[in-house]
Amino acid sequence: MPHGLTGVLEEWKSLEEEYQQLQETHRLYLQKLDEFSKIQKNCSSSISSQRKRLKDMSHLMKKCSTGASEEDAKTLDEIKEKMKMWPNTFSEMETFLPSKNGLYLHLVLGNVNVTLLTKQSKFAYKDEYEKFKLCLTVLLLLFSFICYFFVSYRFLDAILNFLLVWYYCTLTIRESILITNGSRIKGWWVFHHYVSAFLSGVMLTWPDGKLYKTFRNQFLAYSLYQSFVQCLQCYYQSGCLYRLRALGERHNMDLTVEGFQSWMWKGLTFLLPFLFFGHFWQLFNGLSLLRMAQLPDCTEWQVLMCSLSFLILFMGNFFTTVAVVRQKLKSRNQKPKSL
Ligand code: COA
Repeated sequence: MPHGLTGVLEEWKSLEEEYQQLQETHRLYLQKLDEFSKIQKNCSSSISSQRKRLKDMSHLMKKCSTGASEEDAKTLDEIKEKMKMWPNTFSEMETFLPSKNGLYLHLVLGNVNVTLLTKQSKFAYKDEYEKFKLCLTVLLLLFSFICYFFVSYRFLDAILNFLLVWYYCTLTIRESILITNGSRIKGWWVFHHYVSAFLSGVMLTWPDGKLYKTFRNQFLAYSLYQSFVQCLQCYYQSGCLYRLRALGERHNMDLTVEGFQSWMWKGLTFLLPFLFFGHFWQLFNGLSLLRMAQLPDCTEWQVLMCSLSFLILFMGNFFTTVAVVRQKLKSRNQKPKSL
């Protein structure tokens, strides 16, 4: 037998063994996957059955409590107290189980499962979302800067507005996925992105006339400022995310709950004046456009639509931010949130 062939045969044997091993590992993988999806289904149906039974139990207890003795009432209260936490636990469990997509995600993505099954992958997705926001915000900042200071060309303005529409639409999708995965983003911020996408879309269609030119610089300066504030906001929110992760995983023992709280408050008090200034700039834009819409030579519907959008943004942003700050002040001495 030629020497070369022995080498080939030896290599083939080892390759074949590895191939058999791979097949065995893959078979095991499929088997585990099957078991895994069975456990998932089991958990999901147990949760729905528990929810139903809990509801029935509440009715039963209500009936039982009328005319109950003092001791019975005490027992019922104890059960009630224990039951209180259950719905929260169920919701938390559900964030690790496949769920049906809401209407919006169903329309955009179809019926694909978007639940991330581990805490690490949830954090990684959120982290990537913050990075995406930051990159796009920096790009928008540069674009608005160029349009404001260097070139006055309707075509470039249109590209800026198109970028804004695309950015906000993407955010609505990403945020719906985050919410499915247990994020507590307030409904307003998601709605804010729909309104902003609408506003940028309307700006995109506004014809290049006298009125557009009057509002152009004010809008570009506002975009510039908003991108700047969003950079600060991204910095604050990814800071919160990193600290929460360190707290959750207990990798970094230097970080305490108090440490997180004090960092959060420092960040928030620094950010708030910029945020409120931005909100009042939105109000100013809304009122300027409203005045413009009342001019006799204003024939463009875009003016009124943009004005209404700015006013809605102002009200939503202002009141939601005030509510967030009030809620944070209230729970200042309580334990921090965890994802
Ligand atoms: N957009 C997207 N997600 C937001 C958000 C926003 N504006 N505000 C809060 N969230 C998310 C948080 O990341 C967090 O997510 P998680 O549950 O996945 O961790 C969740 O919502 C709950 O956040 P909360 O604790 O209520 O607030 P926060 O400390 O993260 O942020 C503010 C507080 C006030 C800084 C933030 O809400 C904010 O920046 N608001 C102002 C936005 C604005 O007005 N923009 C226009 C500027 S001109």
